[in-house]
Amino acid sequence: MEYDLIVIGAGPGGYEAAFEAADLGMKTALIEKEEPGGTCLNHGCIPTKALLHGAGLFRKMKDAEALGISTGEVLYDLRKMQERKQDAVLRLRKGIEDSAKRKKVDLIRGTAAVCGKGRVLVRTGAEEQTFTAGRILIATGSRPVKPPIDGIDMPGVVTSDELLENEEPIGSLVIIGGGVIGMEFASLYEALGTKVTVIEAMPQLLPNLDRELAQSLKMLMKKRGVTVCTGARVEAIRQRKGGRLLCEYTAEKSETAEADAVLVCVGRRPYTEGLFAEGFRPEMERGCIRVNERYETSLPGIYAIGDVTGGVMLAHAAAAEGRNAIREMNARPDKEDMRWIPSCIYTEPEIASVGMTADEAKAAGIEAESRKVLMGANGRTVITGGERGFIRVVYEKETGKLLGAQMMCERATDLISEFTQALSAGQTVQDLARVIRPHPTFSEAISEAVRIG
Ligand code: NAI
Repeated sequence: MEYDLIVIGAGPGGYEAAFEAADLGMKTALIEKEEPGGTCLNHGCIPTKALLHGAGLFRKMKDAEALGISTGEVLYDLRKMQERKQDAVLRLRKGIEDSAKRKKVDLIRGTAAVCGKGRVLVRTGAEEQTFTAGRILIATGSRPVKPPIDGIDMPGVVTSDELLENEEPIGSLVIIGGGVIGMEFASLYEALGTKVTVIEAMPQLLPNLDRELAQSLKMLMKKRGVTVCTGARVEAIRQRKGGRLLCEYTAEKSETAEADAVLVCVGRRPYTEGLFAEGFRPEMERGCIRVNERYETSLPGIYAIGDVTGGVMLAHAAAAEGRNAIREMNARPDKEDMRWIPSCIYTEPEIASVGMTADEAKAAGIEAESRKVLMGANGRTVITGGERGFIRVVYEKETGKLLGAQMMCERATDLISEFTQALSAGQTVQDLARVIRPHPTFSEAISEAVRIG
């Protein structure tokens, strides 16, 4: 079967690329060994946010009395929450399958391996079939890292993929890694009443984000009863009598944390196992496929995008790279701006960040200023009973040119787009200050932050 393009991996990077290719007239095949949607839809963004939505509502309902609402005893049923989550996953998966049909993209089930220039071998059970194409795009994503910790393979020590399927309440949970996945699961299970301990090796939670965001999250988590140990590296996990697990970690001294289950989320690594035939491998760098600015690998006609190339491992970044790669192949000028990729964390309240932090601007030698607005005086936040939060803008001192924004507040993951748009357009804080934002909204705090007088 001859195609213009074969895309390997039907995650957000792969299916967006395949649909863009079809829209631009390329005869396209999309190969997937599991279900379409990739990590994002099947084991990541969508299922976690579906569960977090339920857990957040549970937390709010317990406090509903304060709003004059009597609820009686508020209980949750994790099995039903899982069903609701699965409904969302299946509905979105069907959307991808329907789009593939409508756009005449051949969705092929099987495990693909690139076996030569323009040739892809697909195994489905015992069957093998070779497909050919002018171009091949690799979008195989990433999978969780299992660090070399003693006891990591014991029952009860799980990755986020496994914990996402859990249907039973958990009494206590140790989370190894206070990064994005760790903090979203801490927020989820804390809301469901689990005794959560987070152990993070670096001096702050969310080491890739702004210090103040991390500090605020740590304080909020502690207030809710989560134990947070930073600067603490887990050395070993042991089994106790009765099946409980004991994590041995070193902070200032050797300590232990005991729990019913241990979640390991210390990062993800590119997925390239079995992807290339012997003697036909593109250049790699620390496990990632190397690409140039046109998403070309070192092998002619073979491209790669998304997590498998390392860099920012985010669904929206992979999707934009996928569409951009196809536009490059078709010499289209209308590419998406990859300079500003927002980061969003769906804790409660949400966290979002785009562009530079004040520390990063300083390290880059830019004379920058920043302005922070607390959400405590924001009308909408007061109405909804929002917790501590803030919006910070970072801008060039002399010109007012926006450099970045960080926020922790309700709807932060939506509000951040206003700053992403402004950064992409090269706007100043004065430009942002001219915009009228409706009252009462969370976005009014943006007006306050950018009115620098
Ligand atoms: P991460 O890189 O965000 O965090 C892993 C953390 O584990 C780091 O802070 C690291 O210092 C710590 N760590 C490593 N070894 C350790 C040890 N032995 N003991 C204690 N701590 C240790 O990785 P994470 O959270 O697993 O997420 C993986 C990827 O998935 C990330 O690239 C993330 O961007 C993406 N993701 C994004 C989401 C979002 O945007 N909302 C949600 C979930 C995942």
